[in-house]
Amino acid sequence: MTSPFTYDFGYQWTVTWIHVIPLLLGAGAAILGLWLGWRRSIIAMAAIFSLWGLAGLLVLHVVFGINAPMTLPSEQFMTANQGRFVDVGAGSGRAAIGVLRARPNTTATAIDIYSGFWGIEENTPERLMRNARIGGVAERIEAQTADMRKLPFPDSSYDGAVSTYAIDHLRRDDIPIALNEVARVLKPNGEFLLGIVNQDFWVRLSMPIPHFGLAAHRPADPNRWRALLNDSGFDIVEEGTSPATLYWVARKRPVDVSAN
Ligand SMILES: C[S@@+](CC[C@H](N)C(=O)[O-])C[C@H]1O[C@@H](n2cnc3c(N)ncnc32)[C@H](O)[C@@H]1O
Repeated sequence: MTSPFTYDFGYQWTVTWIHVIPLLLGAGAAILGLWLGWRRSIIAMAAIFSLWGLAGLLVLHVVFGINAPMTLPSEQFMTANQGRFVDVGAGSGRAAIGVLRARPNTTATAIDIYSGFWGIEENTPERLMRNARIGGVAERIEAQTADMRKLPFPDSSYDGAVSTYAIDHLRRDDIPIALNEVARVLKPNGEFLLGIVNQDFWVRLSMPIPHFGLAAHRPADPNRWRALLNDSGFDIVEEGTSPATLYWVARKRPVDVSAN
């Protein structure tokens, strides 16, 4: 069974475990207050602080499953359970491993720039491969360093692509470049699962401080992302939400030869 300690995706503890601090501090203060006979309002505030810490922990580890491989948000992605996909901005492998486990006949290439800091400590292909071994999928994935704005693959070379919380981290001008690259390396009708950070109820509950953790992301505008996908040559098959996430399943539009 997967616990929050089974994999090591390298996300900062200030995101994954910060809620332990209010949980323990609040509980400690409430117990001390009861013992020393503090005012009830102060004891209640300490207890609420502790309960919020507990809620934050549950959101991160049960609702988001942040330390576990991604659960596929849609059954419509790579339903045929065959072929090769590329994880664009794969980081420590949470999305690629999730897809490989859900689609056991597929294989994957994971690419990431592996430089700069994007919330993952010691973000390297080796960390991704360690997680792939833990997930039992290491035989079906290779990890390499590459820039998603210039993918080192020929046109039409993949059946699928996945990208989670990566393309939305790019500078605004770079986003269409990366989406065009994903479209270029996909075969016609190739499938694309795109996930971006969504500041939903769960994010606001667990990270209410602005500019902290997932709350640091600019709010997502679904209309803009729909247009970006469309302009990059994708037809949207499904749009939806999962905790902290807005996602799209899209298909690369085949070239209309009759238009030439
Ligand atoms: C927040 S992390 C998400 C990683 C992973 N997809 C996940 O869901 O855990 C963003 C990732 O995008 C990668 N990244 C940023 N710019 C990139 C670029 N130009 N090309 C490839 N990867 C890039 C970062 O190195 C980082 O691993």
